Amino acid sequence: MRKKIIAGNWKMNKSFDECMALVSELSNMIKDEYHGSAEVVIIPPSLYINSVSRMLADFNNISSGAQNCSNHASGAYTGEISAAMIKSCGGKYIIIGHSERRQYFGETNDWLAKKIDAVLAENLNPIYCVGETLEERESNSHFDVLTKQVSEGLFHLNAEQMAAVVIAYEPVWAIGTGKTASTAQAQEVHAFIRNLVKEKYSNEVADNLTIQYGGSVKAENAVELFSAPDIDGALVGGAALQSRSFADIIKAMA
Ligand code: PGA
Repeated sequence: MRKKIIAGNWKMNKSFDECMALVSELSNMIKDEYHGSAEVVIIPPSLYINSVSRMLADFNNISSGAQNCSNHASGAYTGEISAAMIKSCGGKYIIIGHSERRQYFGETNDWLAKKIDAVLAENLNPIYCVGETLEERESNSHFDVLTKQVSEGLFHLNAEQMAAVVIAYEPVWAIGTGKTASTAQAQEVHAFIRNLVKEKYSNEVADNLTIQYGGSVKAENAVELFSAPDIDGALVGGAALQSRSFADIIKAMA
């Protein structure tokens, strides 16, 4: 059975003390209130991963991760952080190709394919983000865009490598806008992506692939989104910055 994963992407928010307080509150809420089987992933700014993963050492259903990494393994790349460094600080998941990285930092599918390799080389799990802009959806080219993002970013992998990948469908028009894709829109895209993976690999690889939805997920829309057969969790931004709202999203996943 495929894994359900709820990840909180904090983006560039919170001081170190605020981070520690939030992780402590959240982990206590999860311990007391969540009895489901989803894995929870906390993705703070990279500076804090080491401390977060140490705080979470006793929680077997909560992990930590990073928002980005270099495509290089090590060397003279000032300001960059490698997958191995993230691993050595206890991180397990690395977001690759978030739309903000694509949009503001010029990350292309080809470059992201190399980052995916760097993550897999450390036996970590990439959360590979794909999603169309509003313009692309309105011109009905979203399926072409998604096909390109998925195939150029991932389809150089073999089936075994692909089994370590999580995909997050995040329509750019829904990120931080308060405008969520309807459950039907999200389900349609998730089923489309799963089918691309099935055609390239196999039924088994596609069936086991976790596909998260992201874009203005809140406790109020999470129950309905999670009821769709191809939505296997969420990548949450804004609502992950407070313990109560993130815990309520987690509780929406049975
Ligand atoms: P949002 O962000 O939940 O604030 O829309 C989601 C994301 O960017 O991963």
